[in-house]
This record gives sequence, structure tokens and C-alpha cells, in this order.
Amino acid sequence: MGTADIIALTEKYQMSNYARLPAAFVRGEGARLFDAEGREYLDFLGGIAVTALGHAHPEVTRAVTVQARNLLHVSNLFHVPVQAEAARLLSDATIGGKVFFCNSGTEANEAAIKLARKWFADRGREGVHEFVVLEGSFHGRTYGGLSATGQPRFHKGFEPMLPGFVTVPFGDIAALDAALTDRTCAFLVEPIQGESGVRMHPPGYLKEAERLCRQKGILLVLDEIQTGMGRTGAMLAGERFGLLPDIVTLAKGIANGLPLGAVVAREEIAAAFGPGSHGSTFGGNPVCCAAAKVVLETLASPGFLSEVDRKGEILKKGLSELAARRTDVRKVRGLGLMLAWEMEVETKEIALQCLRNGLVVNATSGNILRFLPPLTVTEPEIRHALDLLWISLPDGGRK
Ligand SMILES: Cc1ncc(COP(=O)(O)O)c(C=O)c1O
Repeated sequence: MGTADIIALTEKYQMSNYARLPAAFVRGEGARLFDAEGREYLDFLGGIAVTALGHAHPEVTRAVTVQARNLLHVSNLFHVPVQAEAARLLSDATIGGKVFFCNSGTEANEAAIKLARKWFADRGREGVHEFVVLEGSFHGRTYGGLSATGQPRFHKGFEPMLPGFVTVPFGDIAALDAALTDRTCAFLVEPIQGESGVRMHPPGYLKEAERLCRQKGILLVLDEIQTGMGRTGAMLAGERFGLLPDIVTLAKGIANGLPLGAVVAREEIAAAFGPGSHGSTFGGNPVCCAAAKVVLETLASPGFLSEVDRKGEILKKGLSELAARRTDVRKVRGLGLMLAWEMEVETKEIALQCLRNGLVVNATSGNILRFLPPLTVTEPEIRHALDLLWISLPDGGRK
């Protein structure tokens, strides 16, 4: 089937909830993708920070194949060895404490919301049930995650949202302080806002937010679904800001493309999920956990994360140099290999032109061009991507 046939089939049989770009990839290798016609692309999106180790990573493929031969699924009514091993690696690599596995980011946030409320309820404090979230945040598409998402455009047509979510302005510590009351059970925050365009909090904001939470006995929940798993050059982006959260949610890069989400909570808080309190039929699937083990072992290997940081600096420098030759780039922002251009113009057409030239990047939030290459991207690939980006930009924006 060629790309045109695949597009026609998609349009005939699938709901049109995704604004899909006109490409159909059939194979990948490292940072490269190949379409139905065999054309090669450089993948600087990685399934939106999902394929952390690149496509068809040999170790992931091997682990998944071996696990698939042995056992595809077993109920969580039983012990699952590969799941327990992945949990140990994840706990050790993050905040310690205990892990709950699910299948996606939004499910991880649902679980974190339930866990935080249950922790207070177990202490006879049912009234402490509110979540404070930020304008511009994105926490998922199910009703808990959607209600926590501080962007009304995602709510439109799906109201009413769930009660118990209070949205405060981005970067305003006084507003946060005022919103954290005796009804607040947690402050739920992305260390860097991903979907709204790689938005960094003002310096010191997150650390001050953590201090306020501690002072008021409120839980700090970091949504590291996009920023976690080495993306910013640390296992958790929170580390880069000196944070020690009570609960962390993860997904995306955790299993290099297989559906897995996770909540990691301090041991004392994790205890609120007693038998029967929460669950998922597929959560922590053995094949997904086999992939996660490889991802976690790779991220823990000596020098891996510092390489992410170094390559992030190279990409950031390259993006800054290109930006200096243009009138339509306002700012380069981000950390590690989570970077973006804030532009003067809409970026949708630029991302499309990049795609035509063999570079996969992402237009988000109107004027943002986002770059999320695999963490294993090489320096020559970064240079090539910058060349492809340059030839894809409109002539009008040159200095
Ligand atoms: C920060 C953040 N939280 C939650 C989600 C939702 O994850 P999923 O699409 O796996 O449900 C996303 C997805 O983009 C995200 O970036």
C-alpha cells in the first residue's frame, strides 16, 4: 500500500480526532523513519518524546521478542517477575518508594489523583481533595487528566469538568500561595510544560512552590510524562530544579514505544493504595515491562544522561545560531533534548515543509516548533537536522 492508499483507508475507517500529517511511516531505525515509498526522514519528534532509545533498538527488540515468546499477559492477580524488576529499576532511578503501572500518561495522572486523595482520606481528611494546577498545563484526555489540564480549549464541548481542580496563572508564585489552602491535597505540575510549547517556569518558581507545599502539608506531584525518562539530561527533570516530589507520573519514553505508564510515590503515600483500591487489566504488561527494563538499564549506564545533556547543548547552540540569522524566531527554549523555537509566525506550515524535506518536527501551541529527538541521536544527525530545518524555513524570515 502506498501513502495515498493508507491516507484514504485512515480517512474512511478511523475517527478524525487527530490532525494527521500526510505521511505514513512503515519502518524506523535509530533516529530515522522510512515511509511507505521507502523515503527516509530524520525523526526529531520521536513519537512526542516516546522512542527514547530510537526506533528498532536492538536490545529492546530482543527483550520484547523473548518476553513475547514466554508470556504476553498474566493477570495482576498474580506476581509478574518482569514487572517487579522494572519497578525496582524505576524506584531506584527516581525517588525511591513504590510503583503502580498503568498503560498511558493520562492513566498515570488518574492514578496519582486518586492516590493523593486516598492518602488524605485515610487520615480522616476527606475535605482535603483539591488539586491546584497551572494555566497552560496538559495532563491528559480522560476526565481526571482533562479536568486537571489548565487549557479551556481542550475542555470545550466536553463539559462539565470534574470538580476539585483550581487553575492558577503560570509563573505567579503569589497566586499559587493563595490557591494552596486547607482544602488542597496536591499541587500537580509539569517541570517544563510540554504541550503548550516547552514553557520553562521562571527561575526559582518550582523550588519555591515545593517549599510552600512542604510548609502547608500539601503533596507535590510532578507530571514527568514528557520531561522524565532522561529527556532533559537527568532521569527526572525535577532533579534539574532540585526538587524531591512526593509523587511522580511517567509514561511516553518509559518503554520506548510500548504502552506503559507509571506512578512512583514515596513509600508512606504509596501505602494508600491497598488491595482493591485501584487497578488495570493491562497495566504493567510483561512485554511493555521487558522494554522498560532495557530503557531503564540504558539510562542508568555510565555517561548516558550526561551525553543527553551534551547533545542537547549542541542542538540548542545550533538552533540559536540559526535563530540569529532570522527575524521570525523570538526565542530558543528548553532543556536537554526537549527544545523549541518560539516564533513570530504560525509553525504548522513550517513543520509541513520540514516533513516534505525529510525532517519530522512538531508544531504546537500555534507559534512553537518543538524538537524531541531520540536520546540516542548522534552529532551528525543533529547537524543534518539543522540543515534540513534551515532549507524548510520561509525566505521572508531571513535577515
Ligand atoms: C505532561 C503530559 N501529561 C500527560 C500526557 C498524557 O499522556 P498520554 O497521551 O499517554 O495519555 C501528556 C501527553 O502528551 C503529557 O505531555
